Amino acid sequence: MVRRERTVRKAADDWQQWLKQELAPLEDYLRSAVNSDDTLIQSAALSLIEAGGKRLRPALAYLAGRIYGADWEQMLPLLAALELIHTGSLVHDDVIDKASLRRGRPTVSFVHGGAAALYVGDFLIGRSLELVAVYQNPRIDRALNRTVLQMCRGELNQERDFFRLSQGTLAYFYRIRCKTALLFAGSLECGAALAGAAETAVDGCWRLGYNLGLAFQIIDDLLDLLADEQMTGKPAGNDLKQGNLTLPVLLALREPGADHLATAILGIRKDKPGALAEALRLVRESDGGAHAAGVARRLLERAGQECRKLPACREREHLAGALHSFDKQLAQLIK
Ligand code: IPE
Ligand code: IPE
Ligand code: MG
Ligand code: MG
Repeated sequence: MVRRERTVRKAADDWQQWLKQELAPLEDYLRSAVNSDDTLIQSAALSLIEAGGKRLRPALAYLAGRIYGADWEQMLPLLAALELIHTGSLVHDDVIDKASLRRGRPTVSFVHGGAAALYVGDFLIGRSLELVAVYQNPRIDRALNRTVLQMCRGELNQERDFFRLSQGTLAYFYRIRCKTALLFAGSLECGAALAGAAETAVDGCWRLGYNLGLAFQIIDDLLDLLADEQMTGKPAGNDLKQGNLTLPVLLALREPGADHLATAILGIRKDKPGALAEALRLVRESDGGAHAAGVARRLLERAGQECRKLPACREREHLAGALHSFDKQLAQLIK
């Protein structure tokens, strides 16, 4: 038991390093996948790709594919498609969230305006679907189409729920399922399906990705409240500024004496000076963050249970390492 824990810890430390090396060939493939004779589309898409990003979704698909025997060449179009769907969704998301910074650079909507950003995002998503068409695999087509459709739903719900203080946590979980978790689930699902894994194995991969995706979004929401721009490459406190009430905020609003927080949030809506800083302070002083971190930790545990059911191999250890590194990040965020 102790030895296994040590192996997982080592894998968690190796995870980022490993990811960079293993996925290196994907970078050239991504650059050529966004070729377009429209210079605005080409330069905006290239800039986003070259700015980096963690390449998490392709990494997850790659690991699931390797576990069940897919080869690298075969997987490249899928891995690129997953990253481009994600990148397209970020371009759209930055329009909805009125965000000025993405991966440490000005957002497409900030530089070129919202209308251009909509088409850049559409281009990236359209190109993804074109890439996976080579497989003629209905399961992959269905999984990615469903993901994109649900993402629209999640993002629109998020916008409708901006500043809606009466919403419960169910509304939050529904939108993070749609906007984030289904793409994580789909990434592992498609990796395993491409390798020809059995249905039950593909379903297990889906569940692993789904639980990890929910946890990942909760961590991202905590980072928005607790980290600075240097750390995330995104504007800090932007969720609250836009009225996006995330899990830590919704849990803080349930605490006794939360009227002050509710008043501060309504103040943000009316552009009241100091309201955002006050709301951020109240959320940080509440137990909302710690409770949300507890929920994320339980979701990571569920993902871990699915991970342990996979065939034992080096790639499974890397998946376990990734889960462990998110757990570590949570521990650092909520000391
Ligand atoms: C950001 O995803 C959007 C969320 C689902 C929270 P990532 O944090 O994976 O973004 P990049 O690709 O690393 O920039
Ligand atoms: C995730 O939500 C966005 C998508 C899945 C499209 P966020 O709005 O929290 O993502 P960031 O924080 O802007 O990256
Ligand atoms: Mg956003
Ligand atoms: Mg966020």
